Amino acid sequence: MISVGLVISLCLLSGHSTASRPHILFIVADDLGWNDVSWHNPQMITPNLEKLAKNGVILNSSYVQPVCSPSRNCFMSGYYPFHTGLQHAVIHNWQANYLPGNLTTLPQKMKDLGYSTHMIGKWHLGFCDWKYTPTFRGFDSFLGFYSGAEDYYTHMQGILGYGHTHTTDRTRQPETATPLHHIDRLDTTREFTLITEHIYPINFIYILQHAIPRINS
Ligand SMILES: *[C@@H]1O[C@H](CO)[C@@H](O)[C@H](O)[C@H]1NC(C)=O
Ligand SMILES: *[C@@H]1O[C@H](CO)[C@@H](O)[C@H](O)[C@H]1NC(C)=O
Repeated sequence: MISVGLVISLCLLSGHSTASRPHILFIVADDLGWNDVSWHNPQMITPNLEKLAKNGVILNSSYVQPVCSPSRNCFMSGYYPFHTGLQHAVIHNWQANYLPGNLTTLPQKMKDLGYSTHMIGKWHLGFCDWKYTPTFRGFDSFLGFYSGAEDYYTHMQGILGYGHTHTTDRTRQPETATPLHHIDRLDTTREFTLITEHIYPINFIYILQHAIPRINS
């Protein structure tokens, strides 16, 4: 559950009337270390990531919180975690803890700018009440899991068995899907469908990858 942040953002120009605003695909690679990428360590074979990096900006001195919930808190709210009560550690499944409800989130701001907002992957900012889950915090849709991790085989976490949830903007209510696939196998199809089929004119898509071994596939 420790997360080291390497964050890659990718802008794809939209061919629509909103062309002045790009699609934004924001990928967080959970647990990816500094030396786990080929441009820092030649022993690593990550050609696709390197292509993105070389065509973009490589940030060499950026800093993140050391674990999941505090770092997601910063990205989503813009506040240091000691201002939001999330500075201690991760949110555990049995804790009634969450990103405070009065904070405006990044996807809410993106919606104000006309973006549709989609999240794929790990939330880890609380789920003790639906109002703290992604589709109530600014995302039009969410495909992923609320807790900190999922098992590669069962696609669930712990004895309490928290698994996938797929929520769409049509219902705005979380629904439990049968976790047939590991989340990192589901995401690619979905993210590219959203963009290539122009389901929405401009998208802000936040993807939190969990299985680092698959990051370059
Ligand atoms: C980060 O370091 C790499 C390798 O030295 C360099 O190519 C790149 O320009 C640096 N990034 C920035 C933003 O200065
Ligand atoms: C959110 O609520 C807390 C607790 O009442 C308060 O301390 C904080 O200032 C509020 N933050 C914002 C951004 O409204």
